[in-house]
Amino acid sequence: MPQSSVSKVPEWMTVVSNTEALNNAAATEFVNCATRAVRERGRFTVALSGGNTPRNIYSLLAEKYAHALSWDEIFVFFGDERHVPPDDPDSNFRMATESLLSRVPIPAKNVHRIQAELDARMAADQYEATLREFFALSNGHLPRFDLVMLGMGDDGHTASLFPGTTALDENSRLVVANHVEKLQTDRITLSFPVLNAAAEVMVVIAGEKKAPVIREILSSSQRSLYPIQRVHPKEGRLLWLVEQEAASLL
Ligand code: 6PG
Repeated sequence: MPQSSVSKVPEWMTVVSNTEALNNAAATEFVNCATRAVRERGRFTVALSGGNTPRNIYSLLAEKYAHALSWDEIFVFFGDERHVPPDDPDSNFRMATESLLSRVPIPAKNVHRIQAELDARMAADQYEATLREFFALSNGHLPRFDLVMLGMGDDGHTASLFPGTTALDENSRLVVANHVEKLQTDRITLSFPVLNAAAEVMVVIAGEKKAPVIREILSSSQRSLYPIQRVHPKEGRLLWLVEQEAASLL
């Protein structure tokens, strides 16, 4: 790794050599988390991330672990969703269904999609109600996912928590509708309190477009330059899996 202003990679970050290694590492971490959660608690709850990076991770899970995981005890949620119907090419649910959920024996009732075909606020309210019911939450309590998978945009956003948007300041709701001016669209997203209540957060990042933000995050003393920096599980594990091109400026 070339010399740079970053003295060392933090303990929560693992740099891997290429996207194949990234996909394998992420799939292995998913399987380890799922196996441990089912063994210890009888179920595994996961919030999937959207975008492009996870697609091949989900495909790998379907190809290698379709019959090696207890899919009956696996419960799938989404960290965010675009404000589109579930069959829209931009839908995170559609991407996860095509690459994973339609290719493994997970009961349909175990998959909880965000109903993003509705009004965005209504979709957020409905998803919040789904979380409160599934996790049997009393007021003021947060769902504790066994695993939250996240990506990072080249502006440092994660889930649909984009720089300069109102959702960044949401500290009481679990799920919010978030208008993203730069995309001229609404999104529905889990809030930071939910992300930070997880037992583990795995952030998977690939591509040289992400390299400047990663370098800035690691070389700056500022802790909240970008939304992704506000993801720090309070009582859980943080793991960044970063492909070499995205780490190329470190
Ligand atoms: C989404 C994701 C978003 C994504 C990043 C990175 O709905 O798009 O939740 O936060 O993880 O934008 O996307 P890529 O993996 O496509 O670079």
